[in-house]
Amino acid sequence: MDSTYKRHLITAALPYANGAVHIGHLAGVYIPADIYSRYLRMRGRDVRFICGSDEHGVPITIKARQQNCTPQEIVDKYHLIIKDSFERLGISFDIYSRTSSQIHHKTASDFFKKLYEAGKFIEKESEQYYDEEAKHFLADRYITGTCPKCSAENAYGDQCEKCGSTLSPTELINPKSTLSGNTPVMKKTSHWYLPLDQYEPWLKEWILEGHKEWKVNVYGQCKSWIDGGLQPRAVSRDLDWGVPVPVEGAEGKVLYVWFDAPIGYISNTIELMPDDWQKWWKDEETKLVHFIGKDNIVFHCIVFPAMLKAYGDGFILPENVPANEFLNLEGNKISTSRNWAVWLHEYLDEFPGQEDVLRYVLCANAPETKDNDFTWKDFQTRNNSELVGIFGNFVNRAVVLTHKYFEGEVPAPVKNEPLDEETLAQIPVIKKNIEDSLENYRFRDALKEAMNLARLGNKYLTDTEPWKVAKSDIERVASILNVSLQICANLAVAFEPFLPHTTQKLRYILNMKSSRWEEFGHGSILHPGHKINEARLLFDKIEDSAIDFQVAKLEATKELNQETSQSGEAASEEIVSQIAPLKDECTYDEFMKMDIRTATVLEAVRVPKTDKLLQLTIDTGTDTRTIVSGIAEYYSPEEMVGKQICILANLAPRKIKGIESKGMILMAKEENGKMRIVTPEERLGNGSTIS
Ligand code: 2FM
Ligand code: ZN
Repeated sequence: MDSTYKRHLITAALPYANGAVHIGHLAGVYIPADIYSRYLRMRGRDVRFICGSDEHGVPITIKARQQNCTPQEIVDKYHLIIKDSFERLGISFDIYSRTSSQIHHKTASDFFKKLYEAGKFIEKESEQYYDEEAKHFLADRYITGTCPKCSAENAYGDQCEKCGSTLSPTELINPKSTLSGNTPVMKKTSHWYLPLDQYEPWLKEWILEGHKEWKVNVYGQCKSWIDGGLQPRAVSRDLDWGVPVPVEGAEGKVLYVWFDAPIGYISNTIELMPDDWQKWWKDEETKLVHFIGKDNIVFHCIVFPAMLKAYGDGFILPENVPANEFLNLEGNKISTSRNWAVWLHEYLDEFPGQEDVLRYVLCANAPETKDNDFTWKDFQTRNNSELVGIFGNFVNRAVVLTHKYFEGEVPAPVKNEPLDEETLAQIPVIKKNIEDSLENYRFRDALKEAMNLARLGNKYLTDTEPWKVAKSDIERVASILNVSLQICANLAVAFEPFLPHTTQKLRYILNMKSSRWEEFGHGSILHPGHKINEARLLFDKIEDSAIDFQVAKLEATKELNQETSQSGEAASEEIVSQIAPLKDECTYDEFMKMDIRTATVLEAVRVPKTDKLLQLTIDTGTDTRTIVSGIAEYYSPEEMVGKQICILANLAPRKIKGIESKGMILMAKEENGKMRIVTPEERLGNGSTIS
């Protein structure tokens, strides 16, 4: 236990308030951070666990454009969803605030001003991409193109999601504006830069020499950034959403979101402890730990520390940044735009009372050293075989037998055997292993050890068979159940950081007032004569039907993604920027199987809760039918009504968002991703065949 520190300041990456939280975020950041915070609190440490919504930046403005509303409306909506779902999962933040708060605007603005006045920035004019049609400088995320590193076609101006490289927009091959689809032009603009190159020697010393103990992935990324040569980084942007740059003549410019967001950790601490916050940020006796995902490493290990260093004034630096890799879902990368995710708020609604199952599975399977995969089958197996089969089963047996033979009173250990001592002697060993693992950010190992304690109990009961011994030797049963109940009480402490809802139930069953870490390891937590409550199941079995439902949900998403990509609903962030290659040859007969004909749109409405789908009622000449099409990004419902279109009329019907769609609209897709409907040169009768 690191007792050189008086306080522990733990931060978890501020999630963008442009969407809900999914299992990838949880496994990578919030669950380990919560386990760590809960553990330290149990050990009596002075802890503050800080988080909040990241409400600025282009991810928010993009979402607002997609949903045709204001950025404020977006952040208001998602901030509440995120905050509420974290609470329901039991993430024990001391504060969950937001970067659109006044206090944050002031803190970030003052931070910038101080650096500006101290001459810590370089002001530089540069040429940046500008969309002449939209009359807008283009933020990195508004530009897509081919990745210069891996040739993926849909890389963003700041990052390629395929290979993970951090990019600058000018590196993109064949860049396009996502506002208009046009090729952007270069235009002069002026910005402030933090000269990271000046901090290179210090960063080398601080990280490469001073923090060799950081996780291999974190240290490795830092080393490759530093060895690659650090460049000045712009800390302002031409954007109308964010913290305004507090400098005269900087109208229309805001702080770069990655400049203001980490300051959010400070402003949220100020909000939590207005009078006391300085000792949490400016005292060497505070241990600062940032929990983040691997895509945030450079900002937390290099940029933010350089900002703090530039600021001076005694700001401390992170002692560790235990970043995780990514979690995939059923073999595919989690993607917000393709809705390939398990959303926390949906999980909580669909698995009421099973918050801890998700906590357990995501920790047991956390992507600590490499990317990992979440599957619903594994989720079910871990619940049914481990939580129900080992932990729940053991506690249930011990409690039921205590009621059966000793009327719910902890019996005195009157007839001990060597096995009892040997079993109890393993508890402090397990405790030590859990502590070592938690203190070194190995949460999977720590959880596995906690589960070993339940395994130990299960095995002990199976080996001692008190239900058989009871027929001849009730005194021996007293000892066996005493040992078993002590293991139960130890489980209530050991699992508290991991499964707080379950341990609350377990404490109730055992009639334990609290669980203190110091008690863990002892074979005498519950005193003879102590009355326990009736048994209640700690975990419920998860049936196949619940898993089938989740798998079907993902299947539907997959189908919808295929459907929408055929019919043009390319996610706006995923615009293909090259002419599509020719498909494989098909025969004349294969082509003639397709019944393509003209039709007219009679009615058009948006499909509720989607950004890209329209539901169209069309007249095919022979019938009136419904088609759901991913064209809402390109056409409003009003524009579509009355249009003559061409459809594939004999496509097998499919359900999209619960609506049966019969057929598909023919669309032409330009190389930049822009789509238009295909229509005859002049209006023809509905039902005219096309071949
Ligand atoms: O990657 C993200 O989701 C960012 N919103 C994380 C910000 S962390 C911090 F700097 F605020
Ligand atoms: Zn790439």
